[in-house]
Amino acid sequence: MNFNLTNIPNILKNGFIALLFLVFGLVSCTENPDSPGVEYMPDMYRATGYEAYLKKYDIDSADFFKRNLDKFGYDKAPDSLKLAIKQEVQELYNVFSGGLVTRKPVKGSIAKGKKPFSIPKGDRSLAKSVKMPLPYSETSALVEGKAYYGMFCVHCHGPKGEGKGSLIKKELFLKPPAYNNGSTKELTPGEIYYTIYYGKGMMGSHASQIVEEKRWKIVQYVQTLQGNSLEDLQSNNVEE
Ligand code: HEC
Repeated sequence: MNFNLTNIPNILKNGFIALLFLVFGLVSCTENPDSPGVEYMPDMYRATGYEAYLKKYDIDSADFFKRNLDKFGYDKAPDSLKLAIKQEVQELYNVFSGGLVTRKPVKGSIAKGKKPFSIPKGDRSLAKSVKMPLPYSETSALVEGKAYYGMFCVHCHGPKGEGKGSLIKKELFLKPPAYNNGSTKELTPGEIYYTIYYGKGMMGSHASQIVEEKRWKIVQYVQTLQGNSLEDLQSNNVEE
């Protein structure tokens, strides 16, 4: 009889396949619960994970190996192997001069979409003459500005800028001055922007939470709370 797969009875064929699965199943068992087993192209799954701004000398610290390699048995390896691994890791991390894996931004770099405020901290008097760069409109002042004010300022300054927000009512914070009173009423858009950017007294800086355009829209809304009508703001801004 010729050997032909079609001649083998089905029961034998199925039995053979089941046996194969069983053998594979048993062979792939291992006692080490951390073992990933046999991996197909492991380099693809496990790329070298660089830590940003890590310096070569940091690798000498015991902490680096504790965090990264002890789980793979580094702590239990003999000294000669430890040294070899250390050298290999140092080689891997020596991407840029000085053993840096990430280039530091050039001094004075500005992140995309960010523009620093031209008035340095402490020079508040210079902010007085800084003009509103956005045109005043109902949308920017009374819709968007108001909405952002509601997100970032209202809990202290209150819905009408009177200085009685929910935190103040609960006596969790010192009462800020009302916008439409005394010297606060006279604050120019540049000064209000300066306060948002750097904070003042108990009020912290809001520069990191709010992008430039939104800060100016909030300023527009605060100006209406100072008692200015939108029409006044529009015509004053055009004149200057
Ligand atoms: C955590 C509470 C708090 C939040 C939030 C807050 N402020 Fe203030 N703000 C204060 C306090 C308190 C003062 C008084 C600071 C002082 O004079 O020492 C103040 C003062 C001010 C002043 C007057 C500054 C001056 O030069 O006299 C303005 C304008 C102002 N805040 C605007 C804002 C705007 C706009 C926001 C939202 C982006 C905001 N604040 C968010 C608490 C807060």
